[in-house]
Amino acid sequence: MRCIAEPAAAAQDRPLDLVARSSTSLRGFRVSDVPYIVPIVADALREHYDPDLYPSLSATWPDGFLVATDPSDVPIGFLLGVHQVEGEGRVLMFAVDREHRGRGLGTVLMNAFLAECRTKHLRRITLEVRVSNATAIRFYTRYRFSVVDMLRGYYSDGENGYQMARDVG
Ligand SMILES: CC(C)(COP(=O)(O)OP(=O)(O)OC[C@H]1O[C@@H](n2cnc3c(N)ncnc32)[C@H](O)[C@@H]1OP(=O)(O)O)[C@@H](O)C(=O)NCCC(=O)NCCS
Repeated sequence: MRCIAEPAAAAQDRPLDLVARSSTSLRGFRVSDVPYIVPIVADALREHYDPDLYPSLSATWPDGFLVATDPSDVPIGFLLGVHQVEGEGRVLMFAVDREHRGRGLGTVLMNAFLAECRTKHLRRITLEVRVSNATAIRFYTRYRFSVVDMLRGYYSDGENGYQMARDVG
C-alpha cells in the first residue's frame, strides 16, 4: 500500500479561514463515501485502489479514518490512518479535493488525526510521500515530520518516496 503532521505552533494555532470554518464538517468514514473518495485519490495521489479497501481499512481503526465534508455532507477531503505497528500510527492516504485546498482543511484533518493518536496513546506517526510532492513535504515539515528513509521505486509509476516520521508528542 503506497501513500501514500503537533504542527509548528504557528500552524496549529492558526485560525481557520471563514470559508473552511463555516462550511465544512469533520466526521468518521462511511461506506457511502467511497464513490467520492475514489476520484479524489485518483486525482490527488495518482493511485488507484480497490474500492473495497476503504471499508476494510476503516474497520481496523474507525477513528483513524477522518472525512471532511461540504454542507451537503459530500466528502471533500480525508485522512486515512492505520495502526499496523505497536505504538505507531501511519498516514496511509491524505488528500483534499483540489478545489478546496489552501483553506485549512488539511490542517483540520491532521490536527484531528494527531488528537486521535494521542487518545490511542500512540508514540510515533509515519507516512510516505512522493519525492516530487513539495507541497505535501512542506506541509508535513511544518508538522515536525522529518525524512527518515528514501524508498526507491516506491510508487506504481516508479517514482521514489520519502518515509517521514515524528513523535506524537
Ligand atoms: C497536502 C494537502 C492534503 C493539504 O491540504 P490543504 O487543505 O490544502 O491544507 P491547508 O489548507 O491546511 O494547508 C495548505 C496551505 O494553505 C495554507 N493555509 C492553511 N490554512 C490557511 C488559511 N486559513 N488561510 C491562508 N492559508 C492557509 C497553509 O499555510 C499551507 O501552506 P503551505 O503550502 O505553505 O504548507 C493537499 O495539498 C493535497 O490534497 N495535496 C494532494 C495530495 C497529497 O499530496 N497528499 C499527501 C501525499 S502523502
